[in-house]
Amino acid sequence: MNCASSGSPSTGRTARPVPTCTAPPATPPSTSSPLTRTPKQVTVADRSSTAGRQVVAIPFPRTAKYGTAEKEAVCAALEDGHLSDIDRGPRIAAIEDAFTALTGAQHALSFNSGTASLHAALHGVGAGPHAGVVVSPMTWVSAITAVLQAGSYPVFCDIEQTSPNLSADSLAHLPGTYSAVLATHAWGIPARMDDLADVTKLPIVEDCSHAHGAVYRGRPVGSWGAAGCFSLQESKSVSGGEGGVMTTSDRQVYERALTLGHHPRRLDRELTLASLRPMAASGAAYKFRMPVLSAVIATEQLRGLPGRMKAAEANFATLCEVLASFDAPITVPTLDETSVRGGTAPRSSSPSASMTLSGCGTC
Ligand SMILES: Cc1ncc(COP(=O)(O)O)c(C=O)c1O
Repeated sequence: MNCASSGSPSTGRTARPVPTCTAPPATPPSTSSPLTRTPKQVTVADRSSTAGRQVVAIPFPRTAKYGTAEKEAVCAALEDGHLSDIDRGPRIAAIEDAFTALTGAQHALSFNSGTASLHAALHGVGAGPHAGVVVSPMTWVSAITAVLQAGSYPVFCDIEQTSPNLSADSLAHLPGTYSAVLATHAWGIPARMDDLADVTKLPIVEDCSHAHGAVYRGRPVGSWGAAGCFSLQESKSVSGGEGGVMTTSDRQVYERALTLGHHPRRLDRELTLASLRPMAASGAAYKFRMPVLSAVIATEQLRGLPGRMKAAEANFATLCEVLASFDAPITVPTLDETSVRGGTAPRSSSPSASMTLSGCGTC
C-alpha cells in the first residue's frame, strides 16, 4: 500500500511535506471479534518542520489476519484427515457456495491460485492464439501471465483518467482484433462493467482479486462478466494463504474451466456438455485444485469480510481527510451510491510514486 504523494519539481509545484498514513486496521484476530481499532490512526507531524523528510517512521502493522475460527477450521480438517479433495467434497463445496452467495453467480469453481482461476476463465471463454486479450496496464503481472498461459497474448488498453480501471472509450477505439477482455477491478474500485459491455460484444472476464465484496451499480463484481476471478492469496481481503475462485453463470464457461485443472472424478460427475465429456477421462492435465486447508481458511475469512471492508473505508476516509489538509495534488476515484469499493489488505510499506492514486483507493 502506498499513500504517499509529493510535488514534482518538473511540474513547477512547490515541494510539499510527504503525508503518510498507517495501514488499514489488521483483520480482527477472530472473525467473530468486532473491529477494535478506530480509523483515527494517522499521524502527521507539524508541517513546517517536516518538509522533505518522512514524518512517520513506525512500521506498518502486520497483525496476523487469522483468528480462532480459522484455527478451529484447520484443526477440524486435520482431525478429519483429508486435506486433498479430488471431488467436490463438503469443504470445497463450502467455499464455492460462499462465492456464489457473495456474487450471485450461478457457479463458483475453486483453484489453487487467482492466476490459475484467470487461466481457467480465459480458457473457459475461448481466449486463444487466434486473437489477443485486452488487458489493463494497471494490474498485477499475473493478469498478464494468465493470458499467456491461456495461449493468447495481451493487448494493452488505456485506463480512465478518473480511476485505475479500463476505459470504455479507449476500448471502443482500440485497433486490432481480440477475443476477450480482462477487466481488473483495481484496488477494489469496480470497473464500469456496463460501459465496457456496451462497447464490446466479446466476453469480459473480471479480475476481482482486489475487489472481494465490491458492488457496481447494485450488482456484485464477479456477476457482471462472462466470468469473475478472485485471488485468495494472503495479501487479499479474503485469504486462504493461497487460492483462487472463478465465478460464472455460463454453464459452458464453467465446464470448460473445470476441465483445465480439476480431477477426472469431478469432471465425470459434473461435465454435461457432449463436446467436453471425453475430457472426463483425463482432464487437461493441469493440477489447479484448491487444497482443503486453503478452502477452510478462506471460508472463515469470508465471514469477516464485511468488517474488513468497513475498516478499509474508515481508513480511506481518514486518508482523504489528511491529504485534503495538505492540499495534495491528487484526486481519488468516486463511486456512485449504488456501488461499493471492495476491501484489500495492506501489502507493503514501501511508497511507490507511480501507485499514488490507486494505492489510495484501498486505504
Ligand atoms: C489484480 C490481480 N490479479 C491476479 C492476481 C493473482 O493472484 P494469485 O497470486 O492468487 O495467483 C493478483 C495477485 O496479487 C492480483 O493482484
